[in-house]
Amino acid sequence: MCGIIGYIGDRKACDVIVDGLKRLEYRGYDSVGVVTDNDGKLYIKKGAGKISELEVKLNLSELPGNRGIGHTRWATHGVPDDTNAHPHTDCTGKIAVVHNGIIENYLELKEELIKKGHRFKSDTDTEVIAHLIEEELKTERDFEKALRNALNKLKGSFALGIIYSEDKEHLYFVRHESPLILGIGNGEMFAASDIPAFLPYTNKAVFIDDGEYVILSKEDYKVKDFRTGAIKEKEVHVIKWSLEMAEKQGYPHFMLKEIYEQPRAVKDAIYGNAEFIDEVAKEISGYDKIFIVAMGTSYHAGIVGKYLFQRLAKKVPIVEEASEFRYEAEEVIDKNTLVIAITQSGETADTLAAIRLAKKRGAKTLSIVNVVGSMATRISDLVLYTHAGPEIGVAATKTYTTQLTVLTMLAIALARHLRTTDEKYLNTLEEELYKLPELLNEALKHADGLKALAKKLKEKRDFFYIGRGISVATALEGALKLKEISYIHAEGLSAGELKHGPLALIEEGVPVVAIAPSGKTFDKIVSNVEEAKARKGFIISLGDNEELMKISDVFLRMPEVDELLSPIIYVVPLQIFAYHLAVIRGNDPDKPRNLAKSVTVE
Ligand code: AGP
Repeated sequence: MCGIIGYIGDRKACDVIVDGLKRLEYRGYDSVGVVTDNDGKLYIKKGAGKISELEVKLNLSELPGNRGIGHTRWATHGVPDDTNAHPHTDCTGKIAVVHNGIIENYLELKEELIKKGHRFKSDTDTEVIAHLIEEELKTERDFEKALRNALNKLKGSFALGIIYSEDKEHLYFVRHESPLILGIGNGEMFAASDIPAFLPYTNKAVFIDDGEYVILSKEDYKVKDFRTGAIKEKEVHVIKWSLEMAEKQGYPHFMLKEIYEQPRAVKDAIYGNAEFIDEVAKEISGYDKIFIVAMGTSYHAGIVGKYLFQRLAKKVPIVEEASEFRYEAEEVIDKNTLVIAITQSGETADTLAAIRLAKKRGAKTLSIVNVVGSMATRISDLVLYTHAGPEIGVAATKTYTTQLTVLTMLAIALARHLRTTDEKYLNTLEEELYKLPELLNEALKHADGLKALAKKLKEKRDFFYIGRGISVATALEGALKLKEISYIHAEGLSAGELKHGPLALIEEGVPVVAIAPSGKTFDKIVSNVEEAKARKGFIISLGDNEELMKISDVFLRMPEVDELLSPIIYVVPLQIFAYHLAVIRGNDPDKPRNLAKSVTVE
């Protein structure tokens, strides 16, 4: 997820753009770039780093001209460095592009363009767009038509800002599956990924829809369909949000926004990895001694990974907290070992230490990471990215469901390569995986009921989350979410453990959350729920089987999904429940006490 902004009017464009980029930093902050036009010449300044550093280092305020575009990057392809920072230009330097999204077919387009003599400077998918427009201009002199031809060759998600030095009166913007909004001023116009970028200058906004492009001039804007060229009439909205609310797109906290971003994030995780996953699976298929190392929520993702590898690839990884592995595993790691590290930040001290230990002992290392260019990506042999975009809330939400998505894709690819699971079942599972964004939207519909439930249970002092099989991880994750933001004690455990001790703690009114998708141990967890019910526990159950309703005080009907995919869906109501309990108890869910987003010290 990146931030783009464009301005055309009478002000100094670079001032408006830099100001706007600062308010888009929550969308990505590993590199920044600005391009302005002054009398038919483009001026570009860009680099890796945060806007506040680069504003001084690059003297961004020196950029001349009254029109320009800017970009704050969250890298998806190509590490964050000066060359990969946006904007990207064509061979002539007359076309500059900034982009938010993922171009899925950029490799084949890049190969074709290189064959036609185009010279590329970066590793990004974005640069392809500038050269594609340049190529189309060779046969179609009208820039708008050439642009449309290029757009219709792109696959994936793209919000674009484009400046063409030969066309001094306009800027061009495109929206397809990544947000783009126009700011309508008096004698000046804005375009951006999000409202905060132009809210200090105007509160009149036009929301652009998928498949549309915009021709922006100082006084006017035209919106057209880039498939058909048809002009689209758009409504002007008056925005009543404060600036702070606008940064959260109207959500009260980043955590809630990020919970609702999960359908989009999981879709990006799927499309961002579809091309590479088979290659990585092949590369790790020969290893039988496998460790999965991580901390916190990422550790819970590792537990899900274990079940997926076991059930599909018939491999049994050992899942360990990195803080234990780094001190206890040395003697058993060797060149026949594969260590899979899961870390959204890529900077967790214990996890980095575990990776370094693995490499020292000659093991193969694969990291599953969200932050492109983070330390974990630089020291690992193989990397898979989760493409969740920046996660501002300390509590992991979309980074967890995207980690699970990548692990599921990897386990399916491994099973297919090793022929350890029936191909037909794998294909069915993969089809369901591609439907996850819709299933996540289903799970999000429980939000109102969960808010009321949180109000009802806000004085409770202990919660128990139980699950069986792959749902044990969901129980652990649900408990962690509650603990870390509501400050209520919660315990996640395998349901079979109840009778071996924890049942002694279940008394009247103690909430027991049962994660119970249909699966091979469904009947077993029903018995466990009945054990807790018999002690007058307050039963909250999540499942797709009506039988649960009869024995639960609260039953959250979940969409039917293969048990192996259920952790991605079932965690969502638990995230929302924890969020509302935190807010009701007066906590700031984005900044829970004592905790940091990335634990860079041990
Ligand atoms: C989870 O909500 C917490 N933010 C924390 O447990 C986190 O998952 C853990 O610190 C690991 O972080 P990482 O994924 O960046 O390595």
